[in-house]
Amino acid sequence: MKLFDVYPLNDITIVKAKGSYVWDDKDQQYLDMYGGHAVISIGHTHPHYVKRLEDQLHKVGFYSNSIKIPLQVELAEKLGKISGKEDYQLFLCNSGAEANENALKLASFYNGKKKIVAFTKAFHGRTSLAVAVTDNPNIVAPVNQTEHVVFLPFNNEVALEKYFSENGNNISAVIIEGIQGVGGINVASDSFLRRVRSLCDHYNAVYIADSVQCGYGRSGKFYSQDFSGVDADIYTMAKGMGNGFPVAGISIAPKLHPKHFMLGTTFGGNHLACAAALAVLEIIEQDNLVENAAVVGDYLMTELNRLPQIKEVRGKGLMIGIELPGELKDVKKNLLFKHKIFTGEAKPNVIRLLPALNITQKEADIFLEALKTELAG
Ligand SMILES: Cc1ncc(COP(=O)(O)O)c(C=O)c1O
Repeated sequence: MKLFDVYPLNDITIVKAKGSYVWDDKDQQYLDMYGGHAVISIGHTHPHYVKRLEDQLHKVGFYSNSIKIPLQVELAEKLGKISGKEDYQLFLCNSGAEANENALKLASFYNGKKKIVAFTKAFHGRTSLAVAVTDNPNIVAPVNQTEHVVFLPFNNEVALEKYFSENGNNISAVIIEGIQGVGGINVASDSFLRRVRSLCDHYNAVYIADSVQCGYGRSGKFYSQDFSGVDADIYTMAKGMGNGFPVAGISIAPKLHPKHFMLGTTFGGNHLACAAALAVLEIIEQDNLVENAAVVGDYLMTELNRLPQIKEVRGKGLMIGIELPGELKDVKKNLLFKHKIFTGEAKPNVIRLLPALNITQKEADIFLEALKTELAG
């Protein structure tokens, strides 16, 4: 059997990783400014994380959600505390798409409505509803197309207000990334998010903050939507939550009440997943990683803004987009193959920085020097 060929691959095989570095099978070292697509939050192979998973594996790796799993309760308490949403409820699942799928479903159970508002350039995942609210027709299969979703212009309060005034009673949910990732690092404005909040309140719609990529401390606050000063009804999270172990969740406001069997999962919240997620939160807390993301992120943004060849620098904390003019299309490739630095990308020519939250200023400087060399041609 061969692999189903869905990804264009770089000809690199990673065999070892530590902190913000990875090594290939020829022992070449790379600086990881990509964090394996925003997944590596506490750095690769962090000793506390490795030990917690190892210890758990020797006790019990998995048993079903039909029994009590105290690690889930411990995780919910710790997440509530660190995210500042102690009265919220946690449902655990396995991926970002699944988190969004469950959030949208829960919203519709809650208010009995069907219409969903999403935004231009949004990415919410590849399962049926998650992909239906994703603004990319190329990845929406005919069977996923639905009348229930409308795409409104991102950050456009007038359009949002108008749509609500005409359709408010049918709107079940608004789903929005605090900072669009795949869409090219576009920050939702605080006033736009406040408008989402007030319209959802007025029309009994559910405000879903997709925090899969911009959450978990990456923006310099636990959820990037926290900058707006208003709370969402549901926060979805995945990527950084397990530092590579597949674990995801939705944090649900107290007004949404559970009923038995309304949501469910086989793997979600298993013992190993909880151990991974707990280890991540313990390190985030102990090493002040949300603050580090803010400090090193500000430093990077300030330095990047000094470089005249860059068209625009966007983002918050350690979620940064560097928009380059079309003629500098080889910079990302050269950073990887000449300077041995992984970065992410977004179309048409945006370099995405999504490093581990404990990256140091020194490591940030290595990236900045390499970028300056490339921009100088
Ligand atoms: C904002 C956002 N939501 C959802 C997803 C989907 O997550 P997953 O690939 O874990 O299903 C992603 C993945 O890139 C994302 O960036």
